[in-house]
Amino acid sequence: MQIIIYISRAKQNFTSGDLADLRDLADARNRSEDITGLLLSDGTRFIQALEGDAAAVQTVMDRIAKDPRHNNISYFRPITTNYRQFGKWTTEYLDERDLCEGRGFFDCVMRHVADVECDSIKAAFIGFAALSLSR
Ligand SMILES: Cc1cc2nc3c(=O)[nH]c(=O)nc-3n(C[C@H](O)[C@H](O)[C@H](O)COP(=O)(O)O)c2cc1C
Repeated sequence: MQIIIYISRAKQNFTSGDLADLRDLADARNRSEDITGLLLSDGTRFIQALEGDAAAVQTVMDRIAKDPRHNNISYFRPITTNYRQFGKWTTEYLDERDLCEGRGFFDCVMRHVADVECDSIKAAFIGFAALSLSR
């Protein structure tokens, strides 16, 4: 099982509706490729984990990387695991603006990564959420 995690910056203003459309598209496409993961947005940045067969994950990542709606993509070191870390969701998506201000988003992210076994993946998502607290 290969896991790719990246952070990027939104190039345009994503409304909650835009993000819901993106989630629906990603959910359908990823489901057909047996890819699971988690996508978070704090309004200006994204963090996404994609996990599944290595070739399938790379194909989706190549497509996402070409998407003109975001840039400044930074990748975490690719992770190989025996088990899915986000098996509950195809592409679960959290938008800070749909949740309570500040701590609400942080707490929500903490709940979402509670079952993730790999510490470095947990740390990536918790760090992203912690940065949103300081904005
Ligand atoms: C932040 C972000 C995350 C995305 N995540 C996914 C994803 O998980 N799966 C996916 O198929 N497309 C995702 N997309 C959309 C793809 O970039 C692309 O628009 C979509 O797959 C359609 O590609 P196509 O027009 O080449 O078929 C994402 C786009 C952005 C901006």
